[in-house]
Amino acid sequence: MRVRIKHRKPIGRCCSLSAAVWSLVGCVLLLHCYSLLHHQRHSNKGKMGGGDVEFRARLTHELEEIEEGGFQVPPPKGRRSPRAAKRRPRRSFTPIEEFLDEYSPIRHLFFPDRITAIDPLMEGNNGSGSSRYFYPGRMWLDTDGNPIQAHGGGVLYVKKRSEGTYYWYGENKDGPTYHAHRRGAARVDIIGVSCYSSNDLWTWKNEGIVLAGEETDPSHDLYKLNVLERPKVIYNDKTHKYVMWMHIDDVNYTKASVGVAVSGHPTGPFEYLYSKQPHGFDSRDMTIFKDDDGLAYIIYSSDDNCELHIGRLTDDYLDVVPNVMRRILVGKRREAPALFKHQGTYYMITSGCTGWAPNEALAHAAESIMGPWETMGNPCVGGTKVSQDATFFSQSTYVLPLPGLPGMFIFMADRWNPAELNNSRYVWLPLVVGGAADRPLEYSFGFPLWSRVSIYWHRRWRLPNGSIGQK
Ligand code: GAL
Repeated sequence: MRVRIKHRKPIGRCCSLSAAVWSLVGCVLLLHCYSLLHHQRHSNKGKMGGGDVEFRARLTHELEEIEEGGFQVPPPKGRRSPRAAKRRPRRSFTPIEEFLDEYSPIRHLFFPDRITAIDPLMEGNNGSGSSRYFYPGRMWLDTDGNPIQAHGGGVLYVKKRSEGTYYWYGENKDGPTYHAHRRGAARVDIIGVSCYSSNDLWTWKNEGIVLAGEETDPSHDLYKLNVLERPKVIYNDKTHKYVMWMHIDDVNYTKASVGVAVSGHPTGPFEYLYSKQPHGFDSRDMTIFKDDDGLAYIIYSSDDNCELHIGRLTDDYLDVVPNVMRRILVGKRREAPALFKHQGTYYMITSGCTGWAPNEALAHAAESIMGPWETMGNPCVGGTKVSQDATFFSQSTYVLPLPGLPGMFIFMADRWNPAELNNSRYVWLPLVVGGAADRPLEYSFGFPLWSRVSIYWHRRWRLPNGSIGQK
């Protein structure tokens, strides 16, 4: 008995001591959780520019509505090219064949006439230009009334004091389309890289050709009979220079290199520096990406388009860091990479390799930019199955974040017109990161790790009220 009592007392003291310790730990944990929640709410508010998740949902609700249809390809009737008719007398045309056939009776569905053009000069006149609607696939005019020539392009946002300006760089293809030889792809001579500026992403002023093609010297990379594609520009905060990277090639796409140009101003002129095969590998479709920490990367299709390579640029962005390169999406044959980042995760949209013909886009995600990259599936939502499988008859070129709207981006793509490349169109659509990914991924043990990337088809859409350019 005594023994028990003897033992009981210290146990009781011990219990109350440990209870006190555990309560203390509990309090500390509660406080920690509270401060974490508070911090998260605070930083979310910061990210949303003073709004909240509901605010964003209200702004973007319309853009995330699924708009079915819009690309019902009717059975073809009427006149078409005698050559095409001879080739396939009995079978009906696939939508892609219709798209590529310059004599297709439904060509106006893919390339509507100038009369429907997006026209800033018509703003406020009840014309198709009014109310700043984007109409994917329609002709898009600049503030001089000319069709915008910025194909395979990208957009750079430059903030000076309180004013922000968007610069859209792209291939000026405003020349005759021809085939250099019978089996060669349709092409236009190099004219140069155009730049357009805008405060609202809808009204674009032509800033001219900021990197011009070379008319006379056949040994120059930019000689008109060569190839200059997919120019992209980033700003280097250390050197205060605007740096342009682009795909440089010869007429047969055997040079397979990247070119670099630099300027002290966003509107140029850019000085062309040199071309090379990055890391010693062939490089065709490409893009560059500047990360939040100021490091920049190049992503290019390599090994005859079988895989993508990703590598860091040097601190001045004028070269690649030697020996820092990862092969990604090996054997997947992807091109037209467009890379972006959301809440610490890297995302990328790519296309398949079918020249000017549209094909199915894929979205990929990675925790580290150097990989591993995983494929999440086709991001296209709405329209028709046929148009989803053809990226709404376009090919990715860039994904532009919308400031103040986290998770909201503009997917920028080209609707190539191989019969008249200068009359190729732009397909800009809202891209939203959110919700669970469709496919469980290899590394996620059955749980979807990534958010879904969705590109919503809209026959017409505009930026949400209260966001950039909309009052
Ligand atoms: C595509 C590429 C375009 C252009 C075209 C030429 O595959 O994405 O940028 O090079 O081929 O046929």
